[in-house]
Amino acid sequence: MSTTDTQSVTQPTPAFNMLRTLGLVATISGLLVVLSYRITLPMIEHNKQMAIERALFKVIPGAISRKNFEIVNNKIQPSGDKPQGIALYAGYDANGQLKGVALEAAAAGYQDVIRILYGYDPYCQCIRGIEVLKMAETPGIGDKINKDRNFVKNFEALEARPHASGKGLQNAIVPVKHGSKTEPWQIDAISGATISSTAVARMLNDASQQYVPIIINNLSVLENQE
Ligand SMILES: Cc1cc2nc3c(=O)[nH]c(=O)nc-3n(C[C@H](O)[C@H](O)[C@H](O)COP(=O)(O)O)c2cc1C
Repeated sequence: MSTTDTQSVTQPTPAFNMLRTLGLVATISGLLVVLSYRITLPMIEHNKQMAIERALFKVIPGAISRKNFEIVNNKIQPSGDKPQGIALYAGYDANGQLKGVALEAAAAGYQDVIRILYGYDPYCQCIRGIEVLKMAETPGIGDKINKDRNFVKNFEALEARPHASGKGLQNAIVPVKHGSKTEPWQIDAISGATISSTAVARMLNDASQQYVPIIINNLSVLENQE
């Protein structure tokens, strides 16, 4: 066999070279994605916590301090270093009296998922306020859920009373056409932005059906905090 013949047998094909390069590029890209995710995750978490911090005292009127709890297996407990359950923030006044609790809720809006923090007052058994944490609703239309005076008024005392059976709500939270609200558990929708208004009603109803009975049943855990 001549030298030329040997070279033509052992030399990798152009396709092999291409695949090897592609594989290398894909591996490096993957590593970079993982690396940037790991680097930015604490910042994202920090920003999320800051947004919750800012919203908290707006949705629990009268609260000046807070304690972190979590819901695990239908029970409320102070949250540890690594919370495993649903986060719940309790707000207290200057005398240490419980003023309410705040939880996150989310649902699909017109463009993307809308995420809010809402405040629940267990004594009036009503929702006392909402703050949008994240949304991509259309400016001037769907983003009115954050600032439309009439819409925001819905959450001064939106009824969310637990059902006597201990499961769910006595009356589901529902959206109604603008100007036709007659009951305290109804949300007067924004005219021309029914989709975003309905998303807010849906997330509040879903969350309240699930968590209001747990909050009421575990009130002493939240109240007896020094
Ligand atoms: C470009 C564009 C953007 C829109 N953005 C929203 C939005 O962010 N939220 C929303 O509820 N409706 C939005 N709408 C309107 C909805 O398509 C729908 O017409 C409206 O929610 C119905 O409200 P109404 O029953 O009060 O008329 C948008 C419509 C258009 C054409």
